[in-house]
Amino acid sequence: MHNIAIDGPAGAGKSTIAKKVAKELGFIYVDTGAMYRSMALYFIRNGIKSDEEDRITAVCDNIQVSIDYVNGEQQVMLNGENVNAFIRTEEVSRMTSDTSKYPVVREKLLSLQRELASKKNVIMDGRDIGTCVLPDAEVKIYLTASSAERARRRYAEQVERGIECDIEQIEKDIIARDEQDMNREIAPLKQAEDAVYLDSSDMNIEQVVKAIIDIYKSKVKDI
Ligand code: DC
Repeated sequence: MHNIAIDGPAGAGKSTIAKKVAKELGFIYVDTGAMYRSMALYFIRNGIKSDEEDRITAVCDNIQVSIDYVNGEQQVMLNGENVNAFIRTEEVSRMTSDTSKYPVVREKLLSLQRELASKKNVIMDGRDIGTCVLPDAEVKIYLTASSAERARRRYAEQVERGIECDIEQIEKDIIARDEQDMNREIAPLKQAEDAVYLDSSDMNIEQVVKAIIDIYKSKVKDI
């Protein structure tokens, strides 16, 4: 199987880019952040606070996460319920960053992610894909952009959806999440040694997509 790993901080455009690359190469796009988000949603719905590691550990056995595809779009199923519509709120984003540091949460999703990549050609995005989930991926990309640019993009997205928001608050939230994701003990966000670093601050979507496809083609030719 061919695997492409894309890691990077919040709002770097990983999912937008990965979806387009997947389409061009005929790969399946796997959004691992959505899986962590669905677990965070479960904790919120059950009144569990992010610092209650014991309760989180205790309920993990009751959580079943799986994914499905509808018209090529990944749907996350939480105990059989499609929760895609509920996992993109600020509250869930914060809870996800706060709870994805726990070993029990990460272990739960690691095998599912590896299993998906072993069966299909996938482009998978997250924080620890190149370093931990798929250490043998043929192509690893570390995709980033300045926090100001990432906040600008997120702000534009929200405005488009008719959601009122404050760009400075968005940038603050992004920086806080990155800080937490980069400094946790298990599977922190960092560039894999063999990953290609791409700063998209001054690149448009098409340029980034083309850069990744060119890297993939040059690598696969050598395999
Ligand atoms: O990619 P995203 O913004 O949907 O991710 C939400 C949170 O999930 C992020 O703050 C950290 C966590 N995450 C993780 O720990 N490991 C991954 N592979 C993907 C996401």
